[in-house]
Parts: sequence; structure tokens; C-alpha cells
Amino acid sequence: MSTRVPLRVWTSIRSSTVSSRAHFRPQFQLRKPIVHVRATPSRNASTAQTVAADGRSVGTRLKNLFYGTTLVLALSFTYLYVTDTRASIHRYLLVPLLRLTHADAEDAHHFGTSALKALYSFGLHPRERSRPDEAGELSVEVFGHTLDNPVGTSGGIDKDADIPSPLFALGAAVVEVGGVTPHPQEGNPKPRVWRLPSQNALINRYGLNSEGAEHVAMQLRQRVREFAYHKGYGITAEAEQMVLDGAAGVPPGSLMEGRLLAVQVSKNKTTPDGDIAAVKRDFVTCVEHLARYADVITVNVSSPNTPGLRQFQKVGPLTEILSDVVDAARKTERRAKPAVMVKVSPDEDSDEQISGICEAVWESGVDGVIVGNTTKTRPDALPAGFNMPPKEAQILLEQGGYSGPQMFERTLGLVKKYRRLLDQGPKESSQPKKEKKQEARKTDIARNDEPVRSSPGKLEAIAESEKRDAQRLKPLNNGDDNLNKQPLIRLPEQSSLTAASSSSSSSSSSTATPTPSKPSGIQVGQSDSSQKVIFATGGITNGQQALAILNAGASVAMVYTALIYGGVGTITRIKEEMRDEIKGKSSKA
Ligand SMILES: Cc1cc2nc3c(=O)[nH]c(=O)nc-3n(C[C@H](O)[C@H](O)[C@H](O)COP(=O)(O)O)c2cc1C
Repeated sequence: MSTRVPLRVWTSIRSSTVSSRAHFRPQFQLRKPIVHVRATPSRNASTAQTVAADGRSVGTRLKNLFYGTTLVLALSFTYLYVTDTRASIHRYLLVPLLRLTHADAEDAHHFGTSALKALYSFGLHPRERSRPDEAGELSVEVFGHTLDNPVGTSGGIDKDADIPSPLFALGAAVVEVGGVTPHPQEGNPKPRVWRLPSQNALINRYGLNSEGAEHVAMQLRQRVREFAYHKGYGITAEAEQMVLDGAAGVPPGSLMEGRLLAVQVSKNKTTPDGDIAAVKRDFVTCVEHLARYADVITVNVSSPNTPGLRQFQKVGPLTEILSDVVDAARKTERRAKPAVMVKVSPDEDSDEQISGICEAVWESGVDGVIVGNTTKTRPDALPAGFNMPPKEAQILLEQGGYSGPQMFERTLGLVKKYRRLLDQGPKESSQPKKEKKQEARKTDIARNDEPVRSSPGKLEAIAESEKRDAQRLKPLNNGDDNLNKQPLIRLPEQSSLTAASSSSSSSSSSTATPTPSKPSGIQVGQSDSSQKVIFATGGITNGQQALAILNAGASVAMVYTALIYGGVGTITRIKEEMRDEIKGKSSKA
């Protein structure tokens, strides 16, 4: 059945359709130009297309330029920020992140080391951008070198010398790599490092895991050869020898003016403790491989994780070991020989034990002491009365060496003790031996004065470097009674304190003749020329503590655990705090 539409309604629908067409016309007219353009001849069409495309491309180009510029600026800013040791991201974001992503502290350490190594090879490593040492406010004299600052990194951070250069870039004036054993050894089974986050402390029983002396020597040799290549000397053995002989005017270990590289040596676990000849051979083997590339050789007889090692701190065996190490170091085929230091334990701290160590130091001709290694004891938690989380209380029971801020007062006390006892000089009985050592040293000096093996073309550079050496480097070349100059940074009001405390106890400090104040207000005390050098590590976390350590008689304050908790900006921060402290004190004075 069809639906019939009444005529009136139909008419009305039609008229409304017509009127609605009329109503839509303007819209057709609006589209008309486009329709028209499409309908026009092709030349016009392509011009219009080009105009439209150009319009689009100018816009796109501007947009791309904007995005590109923003990206470049953002990347540059990120690069400048992230690679600056002052960036707080390192301490407050990256360290917690690393801890979160690596539950095992050793894994975290390996990741950090690999990252630093990789970043360094691309030039993307963190570094001190502001050249904070340039003004020389913190410089100190150590072994005849003027160091940029008195802050260093302790042994164990870079056991196999993978990252000495990135560590120097963090602002350290002394980097100690190792401990290295003569033959590779794995160390103790994992896990062997634990964090105590509530205390910013660590417990480790690595047991001197090492790739061995040959491997580490190869790493350091490669570093010297690359340096020689960049200096334009070539990459040959001869070029290496030139750098080691001082042609570039930089210390042969650190390869940087104002910095020193220390290489730590020790014995293999399997070498029987009862066989002192074998133990000495272990140390000497390491020296023979590594001394060429070191400014300082440090002897580790204090690790708590190698059974029996600490017994070699007794005066008899210690004197024997150190004497052999000193003799081996003096045979190093290099114009300037490395200094030798011994790293001691904080647990052997009775007067008798320290006197014995000091006696061995004087008898053997060792140049100084590093105070001290990790402790077997478990210091009280900080702040006093703090209840440790149960998990950490459990970790405290792990066997191993403890390190952390709780050790600071103990380290400070030990530095004072060592300073006092070392400054008493050699025992009467060891006097003749001391003279013998000095004779040996004179022989070294004569050997050092022999012409350097080198190609004639490079002799000029070497002569230049010798001139510089004559001014302030190379303690073993300077004559025998000007060795070990060791000015100490002293706060104005503390210098009198130090003088007061040492006048009652120390012979050498009483001979210190303070030179006139520098404009910065720092007084520099010139110590006895034969004074043994002390480096200190153990609980140092800030600039105030570093200064206290220096004022107690150390020349360098070193850090390990503080770096693990504070990140790559730690050394820059400590130095900044030292400068602030010095400025603050001197402006009050
Ligand atoms: C995980 C770890 C590994 C260490 N390895 C060595 C080492 O191989 N040789 C060494 O003489 N000291 C080693 N130490 C001790 C440190 O060099 C330093 O003497 C000690 O941690 C105290 O200083 P700190 O409080 O600044 O950490 C190690 C310490 C830690 C925490």
C-alpha cells in the first residue's frame, strides 16, 4: 500500500528543499576556489601546490628548527650538568638508584666502575669543571711534588687499575690503585661486601681479589703509551721510557701535574705465612712489575681478610719485607724512583705495636705510612643510642673489615699517635742502618743523574723536564737533605693548637718554622726535612674532618666509603667544605 502525500505538504517539502539549497549556496561558493583551482590549467595548479607546499615546508622547517634547537640545548645542558661533579643528581639520585637496582654491593661497584670506564672513553665522564684547585688554596707538598689538593681515593676502589684517570677527574690528587697480588686470585666467595645504609658504612671480606701484577702492569703501561702517543712521542717502548723518565714534565704515575698515582701491593693468600722469604718474594715481584708506573708504592700488610697478613706488622718481619720493597723500588728502571709507604691496620693500635711499626719504617727507609685499613671491630652505631634495623644488625655479624664514618675519631687519634712516634726518629740501634739507607739513596741519586736512554730528537724535551725537576720534582734527585718537604695546611687558630699539642710530643713539629701567611690566611708550616709522610683514611666524610686530619699531621686525607655513599661529587664537595672552613676561620681571625 502506497503512502500518499497530500499536495500541500508535498509543495511545502519542495519549497523547503529549494530554500535549503539556496541556504547552502554560500558554502558551495566558499569551496568554489578550490574546485576552481582544480579545474584550472596545470601551470596554475602546480604554482598553487608549490605555494601550499612551501607554506607547509617553512612551517615544518621552523618547527624542526625549534625542536632541533631545543634538543641540542637540552642535550648540552644535560651533558654539562651530569658530567659536572657538583651536580646533586649524583648524590641524591644516582647513588640511591644504583643501590635500588643492584642489591649486591659488589655488583653495584662493578657497574659503577664499568660505567665510569665507558663514559671516560667517550669523554662523557664526570669531572671537576670549575677547576677549583687552580687558586692553590689547598695545595700541599708531598715527596717533593706540589699536589693540587690534599684529598685522595683509598686502595680497593680500583683494584685492577681500570679507572685511574676517571678517578683523578673526580678531583683526587692522589689515587691509589690495587691491592695487587703477584699472581691472579679470586678472593673470598660471594657475597663478600655488605652495606649498612643507616650508618653509611660497609663491611667487606673481599680477600684481595686481584687480576695479578702482570695484568695491572699491562693496564698501566697501556695508559702511559697512550699518553706518550698523545704527546707526540709515539707509542713505542722508547716513547714509554721517555714519559717515565719525565720528558713530559709530569709525574710518571699519575701523568698529571700536581697528582700522584699510588699502586698497592700485597701477597697471595696461598703463599705460606711461615715462609718469610716467599712472602718477601711476593711483594718484590709486584714491585718489579708495577713500580715503573707508580709514583708511590704502598705495601699492604693490614687487610683483615687475608689470613695471617696482619702478623707481618711485627717489627721483625715488617722490617724485612719493607727493606726488600724499598730496595726493589730503588732498582726501578726510571730516572725518579717511586716513594714507598706502608698501609697499617687501625686495630694494631697499642703504643708498643705502633712503636714497632715506626721502627720498621725508619729501619727500612720507607717514606711514610697510610693510616689505616678497615677494622675488625664493630664501632657503636651513630647517633649514640641508635637502634640498627634488624637486617643491618645481622650484617654486623658478618666476618670482614668495617669502614664508615664511625671510624673517624679513631683515625684522627691514630694519625696523632703515628705523627708523634714517627717524629721521634729512628731508634739509636737502627741509626747505622739508617745511614746505610741514606748511602743507598745517594747511589740512587747518582744513578738518576746518568743520561737518559732516548733518541737524540727528544733530548731537548728531557732537558726541559730536568730543569723543572730541579725546581720542585723528584725527591730522589734533589740531594739528600731536602727530602720529604711537607708543609701542612693549618687553620690560623689551629696552627697554634697543633704547635702546642706537638711541642709536648714531637721533635720535628717543634722545628717547624711557619712561613708568613698567604693572602688566603693559610699558614704553611715547613716540617723537618726527614719527616715521614702520613696519608690517612678511615671515616673521613667532610671537609672539616679532612682539615682536622691534616692538622693532626697527615698530608693527604683519603676516602673510600664516603665515595660509595656520596657518589662521584664527594671529593669536590669535601674540598669545597675545606675551602669554606679555611675562609670562614681566617675571616674570623
Ligand atoms: C669494599 C672495600 C674494599 C677494600 N679494599 C682494599 C684493598 O684492596 N686494599 C686496602 O689497602 N684497603 C682496602 N679497603 C680499605 C680502604 O682502602 C680504607 O682503608 C678503609 O675503607 C677506611 O677508609 P674509609 O672510611 O674512607 O672507607 C677496602 C675497603 C672497602 C670498603
